[in-house]
Amino acid sequence: MAQIDFETLTSYAKSFAGLTPEREKLLIEIGPAVTPCLPRITEAFYAKLTSIPNAAPFLESRLELLKQTHLRWLYSLFTGPFDTAYTQSMYKVGHVHVKVNLPVEFMAGGMALIAEGLIGKVENLYQNDAEKRLEAHGAINAILGFTLIVMQQSFQNASLHEELQKFLKITGMSRTLFDNLAAAFDK
Ligand code: HEM
Repeated sequence: MAQIDFETLTSYAKSFAGLTPEREKLLIEIGPAVTPCLPRITEAFYAKLTSIPNAAPFLESRLELLKQTHLRWLYSLFTGPFDTAYTQSMYKVGHVHVKVNLPVEFMAGGMALIAEGLIGKVENLYQNDAEKRLEAHGAINAILGFTLIVMQQSFQNASLHEELQKFLKITGMSRTLFDNLAAAFDK
């Protein structure tokens, strides 16, 4: 895996997705109310994925295991911490998807499915409190957006790596020479 500055990636992705300290606090505060629905959201997530012809073949023979890892990740959205270690672990999860050749749009599609389930729960929980509802939607949108940016970074880096390998093969240049030239160029 490429060398990544996870601290920089964390602050970049948080600021892009609007994951503020207040929203992080709110995710943990609403956690006990939201988390009972996570097993149901996980079931709905995989039911939908198995109905998508492009996605189903990736799930064969590993569905039960995937449900467990997926559910653990969902819980982590409401327990935190959303720190550099979280970024690092979600970057690795992104890389696992790259390794099995999952199309990149599955990441955004997957997040849309998760968001749909959580939106329903928040609407139901805070039906009499419009302000809380809006804040909770904002916080959930931010953590999902943050996570999506990090996971997609894995795909982007893998694609850059592939292009570089192709360039080295075509030109016959060694990786060391390329790195030296790149370092000199950056000065
Ligand atoms: C967008 C939200 C998604 C999240 C947060 C997520 C999360 C995860 C996690 C936590 C793992 C375990 C990684 C590990 O072993 O360390 C995993 C593996 C996997 N996910 Fe996802 N996933 C997402 C979307 C999808 C989608 C849409 C598919 C479509 C089929 C998918 C297919 C897989 C497969 C096949 C593996 C197992 C790879 C292997 O170990 O062989 N994921 N995912």
